[in-house]
Amino acid sequence: MLKGKTVLLGVTGGIAAYKAAYLASALVKLHASVEVILTEHATEFITPLTFEQLTGNRCMVNTFDRNFSHQVEHISLAQRTDLVIVAPATANVCAKLAHGLADDMLTTTILACRCPKLIAPAMNTNMYENPVTQDNLDILRKYGWQVIEPAAGRLACGAVGKGKLPEPELLVQYILKELALPKDLAGKTVLAGSPGPGAVSHQSLHGQDGLCHCQERHAAGGQGHSGFRPHGNSGTALCGGGPGSLCTGYVPGGGPAEPRGRFHH
Ligand SMILES: Cc1cc2nc3c(=O)[nH]c(=O)nc-3n(C[C@H](O)[C@H](O)[C@H](O)COP(=O)(O)O)c2cc1C
Repeated sequence: MLKGKTVLLGVTGGIAAYKAAYLASALVKLHASVEVILTEHATEFITPLTFEQLTGNRCMVNTFDRNFSHQVEHISLAQRTDLVIVAPATANVCAKLAHGLADDMLTTTILACRCPKLIAPAMNTNMYENPVTQDNLDILRKYGWQVIEPAAGRLACGAVGKGKLPEPELLVQYILKELALPKDLAGKTVLAGSPGPGAVSHQSLHGQDGLCHCQERHAAGGQGHSGFRPHGNSGTALCGGGPGSLCTGYVPGGGPAEPRGRFHH
């Protein structure tokens, strides 16, 4: 699904950095070329070696690393990148990216990227809700970033609230929506309908620039249709397709970690 695409995964110094390893692995399974840059502080939480083993590519941390080819690495990487995702994004890196700081390999490379950019902030609820963080996220949106809302729940620091990094399956959905699905489904017209008895009690499709955004609510306790995952009572699937398309795909939340996108059209 992502063959021929290069995804630049930025990992920063937050407790959820370990989830980035699952994301990298899922993207590799979808045949993306995954380039990972860690901030120095991210290396306190997870090692470059983990990402190198998962992706088969050298994981970068230091802008001034001398072990690269003769090209200026952050520029050549920016040129071949199809999509940037920063996950998890610390409050610090959100602020730096919002204001154009380029003082490490991650922020320098991203500043040189012209491709779509996604950012998944993850932090303590008070940090996330702080108006300065919210302002920084608004600035990022203004510059074209897609900000992936953090999930709510019990955080590693013990607080309960918003600030958790969404599960890697959901992050994959955002990436697929940007990179794969519009092209997969472009120009195809399909019939909208319920995929199976008992699986979906409500489905609405909203055409939007050749993309649709499907919201499904599964019947409580119901088993998902083969193209869906059981995920509790509600969920959101992001998929490509025109108005009137029936899009079935896995729905984030619950289920095994390995993504298995299925799209019927
Ligand atoms: C145990 C621990 C967990 C942390 N978790 C987070 C976090 O989830 N989100 C966040 O924004 N900062 C977190 N921090 C603070 C960042 O690591 C700190 O702001 C650091 O300067 C971020 O650097 P970076 O943005 O360059 O990776 C944590 C710090 C520690 C010691």
